[in-house]
Amino acid sequence: TQRRWCEEIRHDIDTFTPGLLSIYESLKPSEEHKAKQRQLIDSLAKCVRREWPNAQLHLYGSCANSFGTCHSDVDVCLEIDIAADGIAEVLLTLAEALRKDGFDNVEAITSARVPIVRMADSGSGFSCDICINNLFAVANTKLLKDYAQIDERCPQLSFIVKHWAKLRGVNETYHGTLSSYAYVLMCISFLQQREPKILPCLQLQDFGAENKESIAKLLWAFFHYWAFHHDYRNDVISVRMGNTISKQEKNWTTRVGNDRHLICIEDPFETSHDLGRVVDRQTIRFLREEFERAATILQYDDDPCVALFEPF
Ligand code: CTP
Ligand code: MG
Repeated sequence: TQRRWCEEIRHDIDTFTPGLLSIYESLKPSEEHKAKQRQLIDSLAKCVRREWPNAQLHLYGSCANSFGTCHSDVDVCLEIDIAADGIAEVLLTLAEALRKDGFDNVEAITSARVPIVRMADSGSGFSCDICINNLFAVANTKLLKDYAQIDERCPQLSFIVKHWAKLRGVNETYHGTLSSYAYVLMCISFLQQREPKILPCLQLQDFGAENKESIAKLLWAFFHYWAFHHDYRNDVISVRMGNTISKQEKNWTTRVGNDRHLICIEDPFETSHDLGRVVDRQTIRFLREEFERAATILQYDDDPCVALFEPF
């Protein structure tokens, strides 16, 4: 049969999901792998601290962004107070110090776009890149990590695409193909554009720009909500869902003689954790009176900025 581009997805596509997911599972780093990584990082930190007591060590790249597979290297950034033209010298000093500490195959690559010390630690089997003051990489690591938390299909798709890219030889920037980082960005962007969207855009600065409310108005509305509008009997506030959900749904209904769940605030990750669990029948009254006091002050007081914060 002739193979050609087809808009319509094959009807049996989902029979491949379990197989793909098991590839994903097999690529996830094991606990042992992570422990070995930590060991390597600890001995690296000791070496660095001896040479530069004030330096900070950041992990970046796939060992810290949740897109690391069992084949990933360890990427480390040394944050140190020096000018850009001092970086090469620091790298040479660092390479020397690492060799002294018994690391193997240590090489300072000072001419690269991002100059690094590269080493292949025979003890752990890891290869490790150390750069200096590359704080963009530290920031994008956190961003990728945040995306990975939002929907599991994000790490799943990315692991599988990275795996494919490595095996097909299209993950080699020095041969003109793309970095792992580029592939992960391609996956995230793709998921942001799915309809309906699977990922939001976390950096969209003007999210909320349509809303022009001032901080005074928002503070008033906040206390007004907690004083007069929140349905304490039935509702749970959930940042995870971006909305309120019902106590019933969470099985957080208040039974007779049970003081829990009088005000329900779901933890976004530990979803069985109600941050309101500490509140009892007395303190709920105290809290609600305080919300009402604050709302009333913001509504009627001549000098709310003073009255609001008057010590109890
Ligand atoms: N990086 C970057 N800009 C690039 C390439 C990389 O900022 N042009 C940073 C990113 O923080 C990236 C890290 O360097 O996560 C490491 O890059 P790379 O090794 O390509 O990706 P990893 O995510 O570490 O993937 P792998 O599992 O293949 O090691
Ligand atoms: Mg890496």
